[in-house]
Amino acid sequence: MSSLVTTYQLLDGKRCGDALRVDIATGAAEVKAKRGRAPHLAAVLVGNDGASKTYVESKVKACESVGFRSSLIRMPESTTEDELLARIKQLNKDKDLDGFIVQLPLPSHIDPEKVTLAISPDKDVDGFHPENIGRMVLGLDCFLPATPSGIVELLRFYHIETAGKHAVVVGRSHIVGTPMSILLSRNAYPGNCTVSLAHSRSKNLAELTRQADILVAAVGRPEMITANMVKEGAVVVDVGIHRIPDASKKSGFRLVGDVKFDEVAPKCSWIAPVPGGVGPMTITSLLLNTLKASRHAFSS
Ligand code: GUN
Repeated sequence: MSSLVTTYQLLDGKRCGDALRVDIATGAAEVKAKRGRAPHLAAVLVGNDGASKTYVESKVKACESVGFRSSLIRMPESTTEDELLARIKQLNKDKDLDGFIVQLPLPSHIDPEKVTLAISPDKDVDGFHPENIGRMVLGLDCFLPATPSGIVELLRFYHIETAGKHAVVVGRSHIVGTPMSILLSRNAYPGNCTVSLAHSRSKNLAELTRQADILVAAVGRPEMITANMVKEGAVVVDVGIHRIPDASKKSGFRLVGDVKFDEVAPKCSWIAPVPGGVGPMTITSLLLNTLKASRHAFSS
């Protein structure tokens, strides 16, 4: 069988994110000039989860890179649900702050749903509050969840055709798969896809993913998407990020996604690598949401 595609191109999230961050920095400077203070994001980190600490630190660093203010609020593992809810109440009222996030996962004694509901929708720059999710479904102005919104921006940056394409999203999480399926089906660009949302109970997964013109892998299982699951010429977006032990690396591990890159990439027209694909875009979307929140605060 002859191959239709001989080379693939990378959906480079670092390049796209850097380009968007230039505009975000300009926007931040404008807000500062009008309001006398820069956009301000706070991140709440409860406990000592290593990966969460790394993510939060990169969010704080990204804020600095575009001229935002940022605050890292660390709370001990022993923090009670009531204590966290009380802190959120304070942050909701804090006029010095445009938006905040509570990094997930939380310690098991804290209900993440209660936490999400407690965050004021107009400071919910993660876009997780039901009011923001509902507004997204209706196509109303809202804070979009960062990862799917970052993927949309990545598709836009590389002018990927989406109208009429079959998009298969694997994974139905509240923060990635489900909102991704909604954004790809909206009457907009990027959008207008026919969307299938696959999950752990889907039958004949490989048969379904092989029909995808656009395949978004958000399963959370290392290298689960293999070459036999991908159509020639597909656009593949890998949302997963996993540390795999690797003795040949100085760090002792390497990062892989949900897609087995080496065997899948040669079949693709475009593919978002791990690392350097979706990851930088997620943080860029958080910055975009924070800038938007700071503009709202100014106009209201
Ligand atoms: N944990 C993993 N991804 C995210 C995210 O986008 N936001 C928050 N708050 N926690 C996360």
